Amino acid sequence: MDKIIIEGGNSLSGKVTISGAKNAVLPIMAASILGNGESIITRVPDLRDTRTMIRLLEIIGSVCRFSDGKLTIDSASVDNPEAPYELVKTMRASFYVMGPLLAKFGEVRVSLPGGCAWGPRPVDFHLRGFEKLGAEIILESGYIIAKANNLKGAEISFDFPSVGATGNILMAAVLAEGKTIIRNAAKEPEIVQLCEFLNLMGADISGIGSSNIIVEGVESLESAKIDIIPDRIEAGTFLIAGALLGEITLENVNKNHLLSVVLKLKDTGSEIVESGNSLTILPSDIINPVDIQTAVYPGFPTDLQAQWVAMMSIAKGSSVITDNVYNDRFSHIPELNRLGAKIKVDHNSAWIKGVVSLKGAQVMSTDIRASAALIIGGLVADGITEVQRVYHIDRGYEKIEEKFSAIGAKIYRESA
Ligand code: EPU
Repeated sequence: MDKIIIEGGNSLSGKVTISGAKNAVLPIMAASILGNGESIITRVPDLRDTRTMIRLLEIIGSVCRFSDGKLTIDSASVDNPEAPYELVKTMRASFYVMGPLLAKFGEVRVSLPGGCAWGPRPVDFHLRGFEKLGAEIILESGYIIAKANNLKGAEISFDFPSVGATGNILMAAVLAEGKTIIRNAAKEPEIVQLCEFLNLMGADISGIGSSNIIVEGVESLESAKIDIIPDRIEAGTFLIAGALLGEITLENVNKNHLLSVVLKLKDTGSEIVESGNSLTILPSDIINPVDIQTAVYPGFPTDLQAQWVAMMSIAKGSSVITDNVYNDRFSHIPELNRLGAKIKVDHNSAWIKGVVSLKGAQVMSTDIRASAALIIGGLVADGITEVQRVYHIDRGYEKIEEKFSAIGAKIYRESA
C-alpha cells in the first residue's frame, strides 16, 4: 500500500489550479444513464472515485471514454440495472445510480451501502422518497431491489436536507408522471449543477438552489454537455494550508461557493484577496483560535471540518469545532494527537487546545478528508510524517502530492 512521506516545516508559495468537484461529477455521471445518447463532461478530476463510477457505469452497460479531463458516456446500450457490492462498498456514491436506473428500467438492484469509518450513514431518506414516487422496495441478501411500473410525482419532505437523497430522488422524479415537490432539499452547489445538467438533458426542474425543488416529469431525456464546477473542498483545503504555511494563489475557484470558509479564515488572521476566478491567501504570523459549527450549504462544510481541526491544533488558544452534519466524524483526531495536538472529543464536538508546534510521526488515514487533515498536520510538523493508507486521499484529491510539491512542500509518495 502506498504511503505519503512529508518533511514538514517548509513554507509554501505559488499557484495551485483547483480541479473539478468530485461531489458534482459523481451524480452527473449517474444522471447520464437517463439520456439516450452520448453525454460529454469536461473538467472531470482523475480520482479513484471517478474511476470507480466509470467501472460501475460500464457494468451497467454504458460506454465510457476518459482522457485529459474529458469524459464521454454513451448510455444507449445500458441493459444491466445493478450496482454490485464490490463497488458500492468502496464508494457510497455508487448509490446514486438507483434513481436513474429505477426511472429508466422500472427495476433496479443496488447493494445496500454499509457503515463507514465515522458511523452508520443510512439511506432511509432515499428509500422513503422512492416509495413516495410509487416504488416497491425489498431488501434481499444485502441488496435493495426497487420496482415501479410507472413512477408518479409526489410531495416529499426530508427530515434533513440530504445531498445524496435530494440527488437520487431528482434523478427518479425527472421521468415520473406529473409533478414532484422536494421539500427541505439540499442547496449545495453540486446539487444545483446536477439540476442544471438534468435540465440540459430536457428535464423540467425549477426552484433550483432553494429548499423546495419542483420537478415536472417528462417522457424522455437526451444527452447533454457540461463543464464541472471547481471543487470547493479542495480549494478550502489549500486555503487552510496557505493560512498555515505561506502565500498561495488558487486558480479556477468559484469564490461564491466559499463564502463561509473565507469569512472564518479571515477571523483566524489571514487576508484573502479575490481576483476574477482566483483567490490568494496571505497568512498571518499567528493563527487566532476560531470556533466552527458545520452546517449544510451555505454553512461551513463538514468536508472541511478535519482540515480546520488540524489548523486549530496550532492556533494561539483554544477552540471548539462542532460537526452538525455527522455525529461522529472524528477519526482524524487520535492521529492528529499522535503528531502532538491536544484535542479531546465530546459527542459531536472537538475541544482543541492549541500547541506551539507539532512533531512528525507515523499516522494512518481513515477517510478522504481525514487524510487531508493529516497531510496538513504533516506539512506543519517538525520532522518526518508518514501517512499510511493513502488510497483514501486518492479517492478525492487529484495529484495532491504533485500540487503541494509544486508550491514548495517536501512530500513524496512511496509505493509498496
Ligand atoms: N442521512 C440520513 N438518511 C439518509 C441520508 C442521509 O440519516 O437517507 C443523514 C446522514 O447520516 C448525515 C446527513 O444526513 O448525517 C447528511 O448526509 P448526506 O446525505 O447529505 O450526505 P451524502 O449525500 O451521503 C455527500 C457528500 C459527502 C458530504 C455530505 C454532506 C457526495 C458523494 N458525498 O454525502 O462528501 O460529507 O454530502 O455534505 O456528494 C466527502 O467528499 O468526503 C464526503 C463525505
